[in-house]
Amino acid sequence: MGSYEFTDHIYDVVVVGAGGAGLRATLGMAEQGLRTACVTKLFPTRSHTVAAQGGIAASLANMGPDNWHWHLYDTVKGSDYLGDVDAMEYLVREAPQSVYELEHYGVPFSRTEDGKIYQRPFGGHTTEFGEGAPVQRTCAAADRTGHAILHTLYGQSLKQKAEFFIEYFALDLIMSEDGVCQGLIAWKLDDGTLHRFNAKMVVLATGGYGRAYFSATSAHACTGDGAGMALRAGVPVQDMEFVQFHPTGVYGAGVLITEGARGEGGYLTNSEGERFMERYAPTYKDLASRDVVSRCMTLEIREGRGVGERADHLHLHLNHLPPEVLAERLPGISESARIFAGVDVTRSPIPVLPTVHFNMGGVPTNYWGEALCPTEEDPDAVQPGLMAVGEAGCSSVHGANRLGSNSLTDLVVFGRAAAIRAGRIINPEEPNRELNPASVEGAIERFDRLRHASGQTPTSELRLRMQRTMQEYAAVFRSSESLAEGVRQMRTVADAEADLSVMDRSMIWNSDLMETLELTNLLANALTTMVSAEARKESRGAHAHEDYPDRDDAGWRMHSLAWMQAGEVSLTYRPVHTKPLTDSDAGGIDPGLIEPKARVY
Ligand code: FUM
Repeated sequence: MGSYEFTDHIYDVVVVGAGGAGLRATLGMAEQGLRTACVTKLFPTRSHTVAAQGGIAASLANMGPDNWHWHLYDTVKGSDYLGDVDAMEYLVREAPQSVYELEHYGVPFSRTEDGKIYQRPFGGHTTEFGEGAPVQRTCAAADRTGHAILHTLYGQSLKQKAEFFIEYFALDLIMSEDGVCQGLIAWKLDDGTLHRFNAKMVVLATGGYGRAYFSATSAHACTGDGAGMALRAGVPVQDMEFVQFHPTGVYGAGVLITEGARGEGGYLTNSEGERFMERYAPTYKDLASRDVVSRCMTLEIREGRGVGERADHLHLHLNHLPPEVLAERLPGISESARIFAGVDVTRSPIPVLPTVHFNMGGVPTNYWGEALCPTEEDPDAVQPGLMAVGEAGCSSVHGANRLGSNSLTDLVVFGRAAAIRAGRIINPEEPNRELNPASVEGAIERFDRLRHASGQTPTSELRLRMQRTMQEYAAVFRSSESLAEGVRQMRTVADAEADLSVMDRSMIWNSDLMETLELTNLLANALTTMVSAEARKESRGAHAHEDYPDRDDAGWRMHSLAWMQAGEVSLTYRPVHTKPLTDSDAGGIDPGLIEPKARVY
């Protein structure tokens, strides 16, 4: 092994990742006077939150009646009854306050005539506990809401003197001998130096792992680095089998066309020009939840009613909408459709296909963002020194299927919650503990081994094999046969990590090495996804199992936990939290309303 020197840093908190959740956590920590660093492989405003289009859900009731009970009901139903109800209640109750805070920080939301935050309809968001009309709950800044939030939070974090370590790639967590997370090691990409961050709390805010698939709306940077590091540190990941396909990725390019397009009145048609969603979801039609719409689209294509030469996609129509609505409310996707599909949305439909978009699974946490490392005795045992927020975490507010626009809510509510919790449990006066040298050494050995990897398989080749395997075998519909084959193939792909070849051995701007490190994280995410999916013998939310077409609450209303040791995945399970935070006598939701029942839209 080569010899490496370190630059040392000491903080109260180190946040890894500078998307919406990472920045909201960073800002909240710094506001309270905690010494806070944000370590990020990307420039903050290039984080994937920048691509979030349609908006952020909160029951502000600016466009008509709404309240958090309705939002909670929709979120529980949307999750197909797998979400933790305490965390979901926290999400929907804190959402309005979190959005107003964003407004006060300076997010330029679109406005109603009377100056309130504009809100649009989104799939699965309803009134009257699913019995009334679609609700306008999604607060929007045109169709560039994530962009607006990210820029605002970055500016505010700088104002609070949070320190940013930009283009630093987090390699591994540092764990003490007694199992406490003590910090992390990062590689500074532009000068090749290595950095040890000693922190009382590490917050993983590294986003999802959409790039484990061949076609995804996710940025190339979405490589599940947080889950990869957690798994290597002995912390499990939860509910990985639930991967969301967004109904409207641009055919071929995979670029997102916001659900806000259907919220503003867009609709889908098949090769017969039929608005097929009316058949499947008579009440909410194109605004049914995402898992439902993606499955219906897949069925239409399978049954031969797809459009195009290969009959392998569908049409999204916006051309009936007034041009001024398109210009004012959907300027970004009008441009995307022109660039990526060659379509003028005022005249022609957009060719679309369900495309991987979001990972419901991630590092398990409670609703304060504290990571969990469950034991047999305590399924809610907290992993000291570690938090996870945003798509990297699984609190679990989305359960088996996330409602559109609940993601930005998740980022800011739980980024903020993590900061509140850290403010309570971290004592800035207390000195940081010495780092465990064995843990540092282990991380560096791994880094050095990959840097000098001299096998026969280029990183790009193995990545493509993984992406094709995931796309084919962990798709919208799964079966016992496809999943068994998927596990077999993913194991072979993951084993080929030992045969990787890295050509560039340098330490400075070595994209070959960085992509290899990212691939190792993706492989851990992909394998745990496939193994968890193969084990779940029911259909729920985004996990549509053709041999087990029904939801099985008696047998499977539980979270799966995937652990990794020496490349092998093992599974355990933990119960779903089914109780709300607030008693109905004290103003909480009537628990009868959120009992599992058939999910119809
Ligand atoms: O369709 C969209 O604008 C995506 C939103 C989301 O995933 O929440």
